[in-house]
Amino acid sequence: MKRLLFACTTLFALNSPAQNNLTFNVDAATTTINKNIYGHFAEHLGHCIYGGFYVGEGNTKIPNTNGVRNDVIDALKKLKIANLRWPGGCFADTYHWKDGIGPKDKRPTMVNAWWGGVTEDNSFGTHDFLNMCELIGTEPYLAGNVGSGTVQELTDWVQYVNFNGKSPMSDQRQQNGREKPWHVTFWGVGNEAWGCGGNMTPEHYADVYRQYATFMPAGSNETKIFRIASGANSKDYNWTEVLMKKIPLNMLGGVALHHYSVINWNKKGPAIDFNEQQYFQIMKQALFMDSLVIKHSAIMDKYDPEKRVALVVDEWGGWYDVEPGTNPGFLYQQNTMRDAMIAGCTLNIFHNHCDRVRMANLAQAINVLQAVILTNEEKLILTPTYHVMEMYNVHQNAKLVPLTIKCNDYVLGNEKLPAVSASASKDSTGAMHISLVNIDSKNTQDINITLEGGNYKTVGGRILASAKLQDYNSFEQPAKIKPAAFQGAALKGKTLSVKMPPFSVVVLELKN
Ligand code: AHR
Repeated sequence: MKRLLFACTTLFALNSPAQNNLTFNVDAATTTINKNIYGHFAEHLGHCIYGGFYVGEGNTKIPNTNGVRNDVIDALKKLKIANLRWPGGCFADTYHWKDGIGPKDKRPTMVNAWWGGVTEDNSFGTHDFLNMCELIGTEPYLAGNVGSGTVQELTDWVQYVNFNGKSPMSDQRQQNGREKPWHVTFWGVGNEAWGCGGNMTPEHYADVYRQYATFMPAGSNETKIFRIASGANSKDYNWTEVLMKKIPLNMLGGVALHHYSVINWNKKGPAIDFNEQQYFQIMKQALFMDSLVIKHSAIMDKYDPEKRVALVVDEWGGWYDVEPGTNPGFLYQQNTMRDAMIAGCTLNIFHNHCDRVRMANLAQAINVLQAVILTNEEKLILTPTYHVMEMYNVHQNAKLVPLTIKCNDYVLGNEKLPAVSASASKDSTGAMHISLVNIDSKNTQDINITLEGGNYKTVGGRILASAKLQDYNSFEQPAKIKPAAFQGAALKGKTLSVKMPPFSVVVLELKN
């Protein structure tokens, strides 16, 4: 049995000098960090799709492929995004996919009721999305409409995108220009069924899920479908309990969980000019993901001790007030070093629980909430969150190296949080990667790492840091924050010493 201690604890006598001690059991690396933890989310919301991913086939100002921005394709390819969830979110339960196929000038419009009440012209639909996923090299994750759709509508969608043979839906697909199916594996059965997806009780949703799942069997046709049930809102543990109890395991691929780092839904605070108290509260919310994952997993363990069903955290990230002067329904926010801290800690939590957390989606990819990319007409910038996810992508499909950790506290007033977050993995070449975050806004952390097993000779790495926590990349200064070579690590035998500046993220690479 591996022993993991994720939360830092102050186990030292009160007068002991502050220190951070991490031990990695290199020889015990067996569980795979599923690359689908590195998923993203693209909703028809504000300028995520329109102006973000898609600028239209006729656009001569912004280089594009079939209307999808080339700079976005390049950036997301480099990021190695594992899957992309679409078309929502809340939007998904209002979306009728048949409105988004066929000649674009004949597509009906609809009102995007959840997000700004704007007119959606359906010019970006199923073909546009799935072809775009092929261009980016990512797996599509389609969120089906359960709230205002029908079983028939969703099963038709499955047939339209996946059926390799003659059928009413595949005939239509071919008439619309796509010969071969796309083979979509990941399917969400509704979204936030407890809220914008229908305000259902978990008991009612569990029955609805069973009904839908019956008509989209896991092994239909050539594509193995992975069905994901709409999951709990943060600490609604009863939701997970009821779903696990009422839905037969063979009907479930994953159970979702949504958790945003937000201070107060009525007073979220600014994305840029936040104070230290606001920073601390957001980090408290971000680190709460660890408890959430542990508690939801424990419930799942009761019904599924073999861990067949994945916990899919398909919405996570920081949520602040929109940028002044922007449409409140568009959820456009800047992205600072605070967001880099959220990203680094959250991914470490997912890694350390990768036996159950096998898929996750940051909300959202472009121009919405904790975005990895911001666009403004022909300009594009990569946010600090992008850089963290790019530095961390070495962990994709690598084996988790179990960790025990004792660390200093980051103290503010009467409250404290563990200052250091960490995780590590061993890849197929034998190289080990360690990702570390120092969330302390003022103090440098000296970290002593003991390697149990392994035989590493060299250490190198990269760091993401900046002068101020509130720093961000802007269209005027797009590269203010970017990864740099890290010189603060020294390896002596089985001991690694690391010096991390305040609010920084480091990824180390150890080689034989
Ligand atoms: O990501 C924005 C919204 O947050 C999604 O549409 C919804 O699922 C969640 O409440």
